[in-house]
Amino acid sequence: MTATPIKLVEVGPRDGLQNEQAVTTADKIQLVNDLTAAGVSYIETGSFVSPKWVPQMADSADVFAGIQRKSGVTYAALTPNLKGFEAALAASADEVAIFGAASEGFSQKNINCSIAESLERFAPVVEAARAADIRVRGYVSCVLGCPYDGEIAPEQVAWVAEKLHQMGCYEVSLGDTIGVGTPVKAQQMLAAVAAKVPMEQLALHFHNTYGQALANIASCLPMGVRTIDSAVAGLGGCPYARGASGNVASEDVVYMLQGMDYTTGIDLAALIRAGQRICSALGQQPRSNVAIAELAK
Ligand code: HMG
Ligand code: MG
Repeated sequence: MTATPIKLVEVGPRDGLQNEQAVTTADKIQLVNDLTAAGVSYIETGSFVSPKWVPQMADSADVFAGIQRKSGVTYAALTPNLKGFEAALAASADEVAIFGAASEGFSQKNINCSIAESLERFAPVVEAARAADIRVRGYVSCVLGCPYDGEIAPEQVAWVAEKLHQMGCYEVSLGDTIGVGTPVKAQQMLAAVAAKVPMEQLALHFHNTYGQALANIASCLPMGVRTIDSAVAGLGGCPYARGASGNVASEDVVYMLQGMDYTTGIDLAALIRAGQRICSALGQQPRSNVAIAELAK
């Protein structure tokens, strides 16, 4: 039996570092280059958002300018509006991502507008991207719970995901922003969304606050999802979701997938080294169990 390929979307340089203490631009560039060398094929490299809202990402243009790009690797950026899109275009981002939410409370806190307003703001970004021949990824945050609004109905997630898909997002990433989900709930949510958006255009973006992210991913894989977002060393959290811990660690996802006969094309040892280097810049230990175990050998 040949192993099934999984696309890993590495969000450490953006989702991870947006919520850690600031590291230098050189450290960020080194991280992206290390991830490239480890065989990661999609790296969310930065975001073009208001520096007043997320100061850690203020140097994203310099990061894009400094990285060594490898052909076949996608270097993507988050863009909430046209101003962000134009900056991403100037930085030669290969792809951009717009980011909505399944809950009104989080939408207001994160991007200062309602869900409906956010969709209106995203439409011209998608139009401009289409004109520039740049693909757009869409995020839905708070798909398994919201720090402000509590429980979120799977149908509400499906509604927002469908809007982003209809708008032109080639892929919609489903974010358990505060990491509260559990496996059966994750399956129910994914099933509701997959009834509206084809499974092959969906991604899982699970945070690990309650230690459930790997279990949630494992429960959803048999449903046919083939794209997983993760952050090296389990970096990050969310600036607008207090207490949320980082994304599921890329090292842990790669290790689990290897054990399930999926392939990612990633060199696990090199990925662990990439995590180790950024963690030493941050003065932290990696939060990946796999990295901790391997480094203790
Ligand atoms: P606003 O204050 O409503 O916007 O913020 P505004 O249009 O009134 O602009 C306010 C100021 O920001 C102005 O500057 C603009 O020029 C500037 P001023 O006149 O005050 O000097 N501005 C910008 N500057 C740089 N780049 C831009 C930009 N746009 C406006 N693109 C806005 C609205 C969306 C801009 C703001 O709320 C914002 O930047 N939010 C970003 C929040 C963010 O990055 N959150 C983290 C990412 S989302 C996430 O992590 C979840 C995810 O991982 C999925 C998951 O985990 O579930 C994706
Ligand atoms: Mg996230």
